[in-house]
Amino acid sequence: MSATRNGNGPLLRVEELKVHFPAGQKRLFAREPQQVVKAVDGVSFHVHEGETLAIVGESGCGKSTTGNAILGLEPATEGRIFFRGRDLTEMNAKERAAMWRNLQVVFQDPVSALDPKRTIAQSIAEPLAIHNVPARERKARVDELLEQVGLNPGQRDRYPNELSGGQRQRVVIARALALKPDVIICDEAVSALDVSIQSQILNLLMRLQRELGLAYIFISHDLSVVRHIADRVVVMYLGTVVEEGPATTLFADPRHPYTEALLAAIPLADPVAERAKTVQLLEGDLPSPLNPPKGCPFVTRCPIAESRCAEERPLARRTDDGTRRLACFLR
Ligand SMILES: Nc1ncnc2c1ncn2[C@@H]1O[C@H](COP(=O)(O)OP(=O)(O)OP(=O)(O)O)[C@@H](O)[C@H]1O
Ligand code: SF4
Ligand SMILES: [Mg+2]
Repeated sequence: MSATRNGNGPLLRVEELKVHFPAGQKRLFAREPQQVVKAVDGVSFHVHEGETLAIVGESGCGKSTTGNAILGLEPATEGRIFFRGRDLTEMNAKERAAMWRNLQVVFQDPVSALDPKRTIAQSIAEPLAIHNVPARERKARVDELLEQVGLNPGQRDRYPNELSGGQRQRVVIARALALKPDVIICDEAVSALDVSIQSQILNLLMRLQRELGLAYIFISHDLSVVRHIADRVVVMYLGTVVEEGPATTLFADPRHPYTEALLAAIPLADPVAERAKTVQLLEGDLPSPLNPPKGCPFVTRCPIAESRCAEERPLARRTDDGTRRLACFLR
């Protein structure tokens, strides 16, 4: 694990982040207000050096938008992002560039992430060239990166279409590692792969974490994958965090009704236990982030909702033991 340069504070801290998108056509003159998609609506969490923080939740709950805002790919509407204790909005251009060098991303689809006309060595060397690493050093670094991700340097002149899906994702990971980042955002990084290949890539990510002290923000809708890799889990619903806590206790004892329903939806290996499940599964559709419920975001689907839930929004609070955050009146 690399040395912490801001004492024991978190590596990355996101505070009350909001990312709102204008919906439909811009209304320049009309009296009615512009409708907005509240893709991320007040999200806070932190990531420590060398840990894996998973962000989970159904499609459309704002996971990728949160990651993209941290990466600077979407502008934050409100909120703050701190890297090693420094507020991103207060950094000068040079500091911000250094921060983004430390933050890399691996997306779901290695096919579109790699230029089909470039060899894998050229793709991996691209960030090195952008950051002015001398050409004579690049070749050795590319070979080192190929070995680190379990590829043979003899494959350096291959093209992406000559590789399997798993090998292509290894190339994308090698490219993300090129500049020795502290954090990699893995946005559905194994979701497009077959289950057996998924576990190979997860094992690779875990080995790289041990060897290099990397932190991951692991974005996934697949809780059975998250269970293998996460140290802590943030559960998102309609652009908000409904529960956050250590992976082991959150999986063993979910507290928020939404987390409970998400976990109940993971099929159990034992068919008898699968049939004996008592927790109610999620019913109904996710409300539109254009028109979220007025009170608790989960009120339209919550099996234990009371009248108060439709009127007031529960604020996230720490549980008595201090290990979890929870946004529910009744839990
Ligand atoms: N550029 C954009 N303009 C307008 N709306 C957007 C934009 N990007 C995302 N959204 C909307 O914001 C919400 C959150 O999207 P986001 O992609 O962050 O969800 P997600 O949790 O990553 O979903 P998935 O699991 O499907 O990847 C969705 O309702 C989406 O349609
Ligand atoms: S606050 Fe009410 S509606 Fe929301 S999760 Fe808790 S019980 Fe359900
Ligand atoms: Mg996404």
